[in-house]
Amino acid sequence: MDTEEVLKDFPTTKRVDYLNAASIGLVPNPVIERSTEIETEIAKGGTLALDEEKETLIYDGLREEGSKLFSCDSTDIAIFNSTTEALNSFAWSLDLKDDGKVISTGVEFPSVTYPWLRIARKENINVKLITAENWRIPINVILNEIDENTKVVVLSHVEYLTGQKFDDDDIKKIAKQVHEIGGLLIVDGIQAAGYLPINVKELNVDIYIAGSYKWLLAPFGTAIAYVSKDLCDELDPALVGWRSRENMWDFDALDLSYASTARKFEYSSSAYSVKLGLAESIKYLRNIGIKNIYDHNKKLVDILAEQLNSIKNIDIITPPEDRCSILTFEPTDKDSSAIAQALRKLEKPVEFSLRLGMIRVSPHIYNTENDILYFVGHLRQFLR
Ligand SMILES: Cc1ncc(COP(=O)(O)O)c(C=O)c1O
Repeated sequence: MDTEEVLKDFPTTKRVDYLNAASIGLVPNPVIERSTEIETEIAKGGTLALDEEKETLIYDGLREEGSKLFSCDSTDIAIFNSTTEALNSFAWSLDLKDDGKVISTGVEFPSVTYPWLRIARKENINVKLITAENWRIPINVILNEIDENTKVVVLSHVEYLTGQKFDDDDIKKIAKQVHEIGGLLIVDGIQAAGYLPINVKELNVDIYIAGSYKWLLAPFGTAIAYVSKDLCDELDPALVGWRSRENMWDFDALDLSYASTARKFEYSSSAYSVKLGLAESIKYLRNIGIKNIYDHNKKLVDILAEQLNSIKNIDIITPPEDRCSILTFEPTDKDSSAIAQALRKLEKPVEFSLRLGMIRVSPHIYNTENDILYFVGHLRQFLR
């Protein structure tokens, strides 16, 4: 990976040590330009800039790029406005049956668990949230929880807080076991897509969702979802609208019928410029090579872990065997928010996230080894 070349597209990195892709990724200049250009064209020109053909092309273009990112057919991709929207849309589309069981974990991002907790207020379902052991979710505990009532296992591919990555083999094991009893595996990939190579068919997941604004380095306002053909054919979407139809341009108010592909989960107009922006970002990242990005990010996180291990009074939360591009740690005798405040006041500030009082660092393609050493150097001074 030619980091020098990449850095030219991220001018913010000259003035800030930006280590926060797990919160919001920086968008490369060419992507900002393309999506701003189309946004302005539509604002100024209305249908002169966005006719029916163009509108269709923008969505088709994103489905095409999404299919390359996930290694599936473009007909298996549905476009949403956010990850949370997609999770809710699928959750409410499923028939969880009376007494159905949904398995997730207690360390998930709330949007992963809330749709099911909400359904549980209305329907008789049992939501089982597995407790982490030392911040880690052991795969065997998930497998042991799957029983004949299990309808859904829903997990993040990489956990937002702890950075735990579920291995491809572990995901395949969960998929196999849940499929054996007729259940589904839903994976939230917003903390993975953009640096982890993803092959949804090999993973054998039923639904895989990824939002735009973190590791995919695109503007806010869109998410893509893979839904397996069999499941797609089976489901009656919970959210419907004019786009749900095979031919959305016939505006037939009398007949609610769906597109024959995953497009049936799309239902409304939306921010077209960000759809185009996400397609451009995926091209940008694929051009660098997703595996190259994985290696680059992992190397930076490994260097960070090694450096932190040499500092006293730091607890690393991220399980070493499962780390990839997020590292979370906790100083044992200093307040994390005081550290964040001090590091943000530096001449070249360091940007990272505080989550539940812990420090979460998440480097991406625009970071270098120097960024990590700069951060640790100042952290050491502060903790002295
Ligand atoms: C695992 C996970 N899922 C969902 C979200 C929220 O996604 P969105 O803003 O696209 O709804 C986040 C945001 O941090 C997240 O970490």
